[in-house]
Amino acid sequence: MIELDSVTKRFSSVVAVDDLTLKLKAGTLFGFLGPNGAGKTTTIKMLVGIMKPTRGRIEVLGMDISKRSQEVKRCLGYIPDRPYLYEKLTGAEFISLTLRLYGIREEVSLKERIDYYLELFSLAEWKDELIENYSHGMKQRLIVTSVLIRDPKIIIVDEPMVGLDPIAVRMVKDIFRDLVKKGKTIFMSTHSVYLAEEICSEIGLIHKGRLVLKDKTEEIMKSFKEMKSLEDIFIKLTLG
Ligand SMILES: Nc1ncnc2c1ncn2[C@@H]1O[C@H](COP(=O)(O)OP(=O)(O)OP(=O)(O)O)[C@@H](O)[C@H]1O
Ligand SMILES: [Mg+2]
Repeated sequence: MIELDSVTKRFSSVVAVDDLTLKLKAGTLFGFLGPNGAGKTTTIKMLVGIMKPTRGRIEVLGMDISKRSQEVKRCLGYIPDRPYLYEKLTGAEFISLTLRLYGIREEVSLKERIDYYLELFSLAEWKDELIENYSHGMKQRLIVTSVLIRDPKIIIVDEPMVGLDPIAVRMVKDIFRDLVKKGKTIFMSTHSVYLAEEICSEIGLIHKGRLVLKDKTEEIMKSFKEMKSLEDIFIKLTLG
């Protein structure tokens, strides 16, 4: 489903991602953890096709991203760490634009899905307001909404919960759990070890560009029996 093979990314002297090999099956909710500057966002940008690796190969749904990036992008939903939105559009216009960019027609069934998610994320009454008047959390909810409406097979998300209030966090958690049950795959970077422990079926830990741990969450907890929590494991493996 998602496969990274010896992926390296260099920025002049900095090796942001160092020989990363990773395989994820469909139906996985993968939590990508690591300290600041570890290489999470860089990995994600390569995975969604907006940055090219210096070396290595990335396959998504069996397609080589360097050769079939348009097709891959169609199957992906990307929620970046910072919401990039056109501030002079309204929420409804932004959703329409997104759908048109992906070549999706707004048929009746889709309109229902749009209304459903706008309602769910408390954006229905804001949909005709300019995005520049939205709060940070509302912008984040709009991005999440625009991705979920497209119903992509794979969701790649960088720090999804930053700026969201507890109600929206609960909603996103429930939606993510539900999506993976339906066979979707979610690749999620997060700083919250608690969130990862709670909802992720598998966890990867990246430190200084290298993947230092990757396994099913329960296996990790079993193999570090002496540790009380994932937080302790994170600190042990990344301190120093
Ligand atoms: N465009 C760039 N040019 C030069 N260096 C970069 C660039 N993007 C990232 N880096 C460097 O690559 C390394 C990894 O950065 P990255 O943003 O991937 O980390 P991260 O794990 O997402 O961190 P955080 O938890 O703070 O979001 C850092 O040393 C960063 O300074
Ligand atoms: Mg980052």
